[in-house]
Amino acid sequence: MTARAATLFREHLGDPTGAVVARAPGRVNLIGEHTDYNDGFVLPTIIDREVEVVARKRPDRQVRIVAADLEERRENNLDHPIDYANSGWLPYVLGVVHELAQRGRIESGADIVFRGTVPRGAGLSSSAALEVATALALDTAFNLWLNPVEMARLCRDVEHRYAGVRCGIMDQFASRLGRSDHALLIDCRSLDARHVPLALDGHRMVIVDSGIRRELADSAYNQRRTECEEAVTILHEADASIISLRDVTPEMILGHENLLPPDLFARCRHVVSENHRVLEACERLANGDLPAFGRLMNASHLSLRNDFEVSHPALDRLVEEANQIDGVLGARLTGAGFGGCTVNLVAEAALPAFEQKIEPLVDDWSTQSIVIGTPEQARVTEVIA
Ligand code: GLA
Repeated sequence: MTARAATLFREHLGDPTGAVVARAPGRVNLIGEHTDYNDGFVLPTIIDREVEVVARKRPDRQVRIVAADLEERRENNLDHPIDYANSGWLPYVLGVVHELAQRGRIESGADIVFRGTVPRGAGLSSSAALEVATALALDTAFNLWLNPVEMARLCRDVEHRYAGVRCGIMDQFASRLGRSDHALLIDCRSLDARHVPLALDGHRMVIVDSGIRRELADSAYNQRRTECEEAVTILHEADASIISLRDVTPEMILGHENLLPPDLFARCRHVVSENHRVLEACERLANGDLPAFGRLMNASHLSLRNDFEVSHPALDRLVEEANQIDGVLGARLTGAGFGGCTVNLVAEAALPAFEQKIEPLVDDWSTQSIVIGTPEQARVTEVIA
């Protein structure tokens, strides 16, 4: 993102005076997968890859959007609903504008240019970063004063309504509220969150992209969510106190095993055990017990592979190979699964060995690996004078 934001805007959409520049980071989830939409716990952290949005209010109801990296341009009028099917990035930007208009927060359209460095479709929340950066820019441009949690929820709703993915709130919440050098423990039921210092003591979090892609809107993600809901319906009949998988204890699930078909039982066992792992991982991190943190990452991967069945042979291979390297404390798939990335806890001294062993497993190491450096939190960086 070299050219100045003002130049970028002028190149594509004219006079940048008054345009707001906002940036939001992607995220990697350290532990707590498929727990967010079950009212559970997650522990993501932001990464040093981000999306930049430059947005300017318009006097009429037109919306013009330019995806600078892709050299694509779309135009729409706020009064004309649009069919988002197979429309790539469009729902994450135009969806935010439409949602704000529908909620009566804005009455006019906007000119928007965006670009970014978050790998697309890799499970590092490029879409959440785009939504959050768009919402932040519009928030300042239209003087909305949305609070951060409200903004994360709005962006999550955009994903449901315009992109057709029934995701939880983790990605948008992490992108909006995450801080550098901290993991964010989110209670996805109350939406209380705590910044946990990521004191890695001579270790680094390394992300490896398997290169396998799938659209989140693929039925598989939504299907897992439906399976969890089906399990809750069954468990609720047996115990009215259960209104989400968050309410299920290990004892309860074992006690109700006979009520659930085997695949639903396995899905529940993953969610219930994963919630415990997240809370334990936070404690271990706070106590500086990184080997224990790594073991929890490994256990999480096995549970996602065997019980939640969202892994992929390429991800399993990356995790297995990583764990054979001295100095790797843990590895797991991160994000929705079915492809995308792994996250690895690696001693700094073992980084060369890690690269040597894992590099041959991906096509292009320079673009498919990220050693998390110093990310910056979501922010408005400039109002162009
Ligand atoms: C995707 C979703 C999140 C979460 C993860 C799985 O990233 O957007 O809400 O459900 O998958 O943990």
